[in-house]
Amino acid sequence: HRTRVAVIGAGPAGLLLGHLLHRQGIDTVVLESRDRGYVERRQRAGILEQGTADVLRASGAGERMDQAGLRHDGIELRFDGGSHRVDFPTLTGGRSVMVYAQTEVVKDLIALRLETGAPLLFEAEVLAVDGIEGDAPTLRYRHEGAEHTLTCDIIVACDGFHGIGRRSVPTSALRTFERVYPYSWLGILADVPPSCDELIYAHHPRGFALHSMRTPQISRLYLQVPPDEDLAAWPDSRVWDELSTRMAVPGWTLATGPVTEKSITPMRSFVAEPMRHGRLFLAGDAAHIVPPTGAKGLNLAAADVTLLAAALTRWHRAGDTTLLDAYSATALQRVWRAEQFSYSMTTMLHTPPDQDPFDHRLQFAQLSYTASSRAASTSLAENYVGLPLPGLE
Ligand code: FAD
Ligand code: DHB
Repeated sequence: HRTRVAVIGAGPAGLLLGHLLHRQGIDTVVLESRDRGYVERRQRAGILEQGTADVLRASGAGERMDQAGLRHDGIELRFDGGSHRVDFPTLTGGRSVMVYAQTEVVKDLIALRLETGAPLLFEAEVLAVDGIEGDAPTLRYRHEGAEHTLTCDIIVACDGFHGIGRRSVPTSALRTFERVYPYSWLGILADVPPSCDELIYAHHPRGFALHSMRTPQISRLYLQVPPDEDLAAWPDSRVWDELSTRMAVPGWTLATGPVTEKSITPMRSFVAEPMRHGRLFLAGDAAHIVPPTGAKGLNLAAADVTLLAAALTRWHRAGDTTLLDAYSATALQRVWRAEQFSYSMTTMLHTPPDQDPFDHRLQFAQLSYTASSRAASTSLAENYVGLPLPGLE
């Protein structure tokens, strides 16, 4: 069969792209290798930039987010036994972020797509991508025990870091950049009301800790651990003790509760350039990874597909490829800004193994500057709430 735009992957990038293109009357097929329940339950990001929330809202996908999401106007930095708040609206001309889980964004977009009847196939794994240097690229995929071929005008790989899209580009046509960090994050989800109104980013000699949340009843917390750490070494009681130690300030206690999910995530930075080869476009984690500190991963994915939707709409309506041709360069500007921000938040807040004393003093100087200077905290705030996105048509 045939479609205009074939989208590989039903993570936030693929689902949002499918939704934005459907609104413009552009035929799409979204193919996802996993089942619906798996995609809807995969615990990942929790913070939406102002621009991401605005795109969801403007495209009619923000209803539940506006009911259940929590608007956050700042974060707290903790280090050296003290607390320092960074206020977003006063430093950014009124911008803020939204606490609304990736799982919920994904559920909302899946429900909208299924309502419209536009094709979204689960348990449909793409096995091969062909003809991207010609005019009619094809995808081969397996669904319900049979193999199928889908021919299209454009393929968009929204299939994450381990997907098939990026691997289908000749290696000579792609340049990659990578940094692997000497630590991982152990994350828990717990049935306990958050012990704070805003997120706490804590620097401690024993390592970084982050207190986030999903709802007024559910907390999400993270701990820096060694890169090859075994989850079995972290019974719940040890996780809570360590979180309390690293986040301690006088007069504050961390409430504990039943842990419902626990996992370890390695941390890396990665960028593939360009984000296009012939008729194949890369978006989201398929093209780039940031370390999670600063919560940019999901937001970059949303920004990529917002650009791409505008570019594909222009091409579909007027046969004009100007925006499509500019996609990679335009997207990469934001990608590298986010790479730099995530890198600087990560290195400012984590304690590397065998840290040398000079680096430690520099790190402390950066934390103190960020907490005390309006210029430095404005820079953090501006990056955290995110750069404006192009408007929707
Ligand atoms: P994905 O969400 O990875 O979606 C890709 C989809 O493609 C998947 O559903 C996959 O099954 C599908 N797929 C892959 N191959 C194929 C194929 N051959 N055929 C069909 N389908 C295929 N970001 C934050 O900001 N904060 C966080 O706390 C945070 N935590 C994270 C924890 C983990 C464990 C991971 C992996 C990421 C985390 N991120 C976090 C990053 C954020 O979740 C991602 O940036 C975001 O999911 C990117 O969306 P995406 O749609 O590009 O990719
Ligand atoms: C969350 C993750 C982050 O990486 C971050 O910087 C803030 C919040 C979260 O999962 O809630």
